[in-house]
Amino acid sequence: MSLSIIVLAAGKGSRMLSSKPKVLNEVGNYPMLFHILDSLNSIKDAKVRIVISTSLSQYKKVIKSKYKKVTFSIQLKQNGTADAVKSALDESIQNSNTTLVLCGDTPLISKKTLKKSIKKFYKDNLDLCVISMIPDSHVNSYGKLKFINKRLIGISENNEISSNEHSNICNSGIMIVKTKKLIENLKLIKNNNRKKEFFLTDLVEIFNERKLSIDHIPCEFTETLGVNCMKDLARVNFEFQRMRRNYYLSKGVVMEAPETVFFSHDTQIGKNVIIQPNVYFGPAVKIRNGVILRSFSYLDNVTVSNDSVIGPYARIRDGVEIKENSKIGNFVEIKKSKIDKNVKISHLSYIGDSIINSDSNIGAGAITCNYDGIRKNQTIIGKNCFVGSNTSLVAPLNIKKGSIIGAGTVVNKDVPIETVVYRKSELIKKNKKK
Ligand code: UD1
Ligand code: CA
Repeated sequence: MSLSIIVLAAGKGSRMLSSKPKVLNEVGNYPMLFHILDSLNSIKDAKVRIVISTSLSQYKKVIKSKYKKVTFSIQLKQNGTADAVKSALDESIQNSNTTLVLCGDTPLISKKTLKKSIKKFYKDNLDLCVISMIPDSHVNSYGKLKFINKRLIGISENNEISSNEHSNICNSGIMIVKTKKLIENLKLIKNNNRKKEFFLTDLVEIFNERKLSIDHIPCEFTETLGVNCMKDLARVNFEFQRMRRNYYLSKGVVMEAPETVFFSHDTQIGKNVIIQPNVYFGPAVKIRNGVILRSFSYLDNVTVSNDSVIGPYARIRDGVEIKENSKIGNFVEIKKSKIDKNVKISHLSYIGDSIINSDSNIGAGAITCNYDGIRKNQTIIGKNCFVGSNTSLVAPLNIKKGSIIGAGTVVNKDVPIETVVYRKSELIKKNKKK
């Protein structure tokens, strides 16, 4: 059985009121379209075609670099979902037995639901089936399924409903159909509706009239949440976070207030990790075992090794590696740096473009001056160094192992091994009355 998958992603997304193509809006810091393509990756031997508009075609390269096998069709004018499917029907899709159509703005659909639905479609030898759901509110913008004696006979789009003919069961936008019958009947769809668009959903009524075998497969509503406006996107992000939090809790992560912790799609958390309230994970964060993340910390592109403690109020970003048993305290920012094991940076520091070797201690208010106004320069601090409070480390700079820098020093020359450096500034005492 050969399967084609068509992802509809050419819509104008006008209800988003944003210049960004709708399907590239992010859920868990990851484009909606990528969520879908990742789920589709698990369906073996299927050809995946994405229908895009000309405005999305500039992103083809980026998409292709991540999903090598996908192909694209361009829908020149956004004349509706049926027209979008039509623009994808080239020879390679026409030769497949079955076609799965889904919308690029429904990012939470799971592999499990897709696989289960495809299985049922084959098992029941259907000509067409839609994945259905029951929204949690009667006021919604989804297409409503119409039944006669529990038999599916059509779908009415939200703006087109005139009577009580519809049920509370709605269309997820996902359809599985025999390709040959899809091609034969797609031509029969007309655009005599308020939007003057060709609705793919009209296929259900046509199939019913032609006595073809149709059905619907119910699915969890949250998986089928569609994104048409920013409010929908916020709802999808909310559900995504709920699912991620439950996932990490089920893996033994300790979170006192999980509803205040935000994860990205690719956050990795090890065993025996404690996450205090209000921690944010940007993309590419890996937390190993036994780490404590204290409140109000922001991590983005960071790996934290076993037993380190981060925060409260730490900002760590842009490619940072923190090795075992290090302590990064409050109001410390670290950017693009390697922090070796047993390092302490406990308060009020900025560490940028640096390498700090093991067992070193960086005092309160120590700053790497990494930018000279033109370029970013590196600071290297050797093993077992002590950098006093309120020092300015003017990069490029190499402080060799075992050295001590006195408080308040501006260091702008390399420091040899096991050297004490301090800036002499005499304390002048005068009696005010003299
Ligand atoms: C669609 C369904 C509706 C369903 C809902 C589920 C139709 C007519 N309606 O409504 O029954 O309940 O999805 O979320 O199918 N697109 C194109 N080209 C176009 C128009 C749309 O590629 O010319 C793409 C969009 O990018 C989007 C998808 O098709 O990914 C659905 O279009 P959208 O306008 O969002 O349809 P809905 O009103 O949500
Ligand atoms: Ca939609």
